Amino acid sequence: MTRVTCIEPGGESVGVEIRDGWSLMQGAKSQGVQGIEAQCGGACACATCHCYVDPAWIGKLPPPGAAESLMLTNVAAEQRPNSRLSCQIRIEPGLEGLVVAFPDRQS
Ligand code: FES
Repeated sequence: MTRVTCIEPGGESVGVEIRDGWSLMQGAKSQGVQGIEAQCGGACACATCHCYVDPAWIGKLPPPGAAESLMLTNVAAEQRPNSRLSCQIRIEPGLEGLVVAFPDRQS
């Protein structure tokens, strides 16, 4: 289990423990974190699981693949350099303490 801090659209900071191997989207949504739609269920096909990775962490994640990069151009909220799709972030122990924020709209 890896501890991640999720900042909801309203600014609430929620600590969640996510099973290693799960996606950030799966883990956060299953624990009721607000601000995630994930309409496609994690297939990298909807861009409604958009999150902003804390700048201190963005360089520690594997870079987005081609499909994620393409989908990131379709996010509803502002796309920023630290934008990622949370269904494409695979949780592993090295991400202990990761901080991500979810935008105020996903569609
Ligand atoms: S859940 Fe659809 S792109 Fe992430």
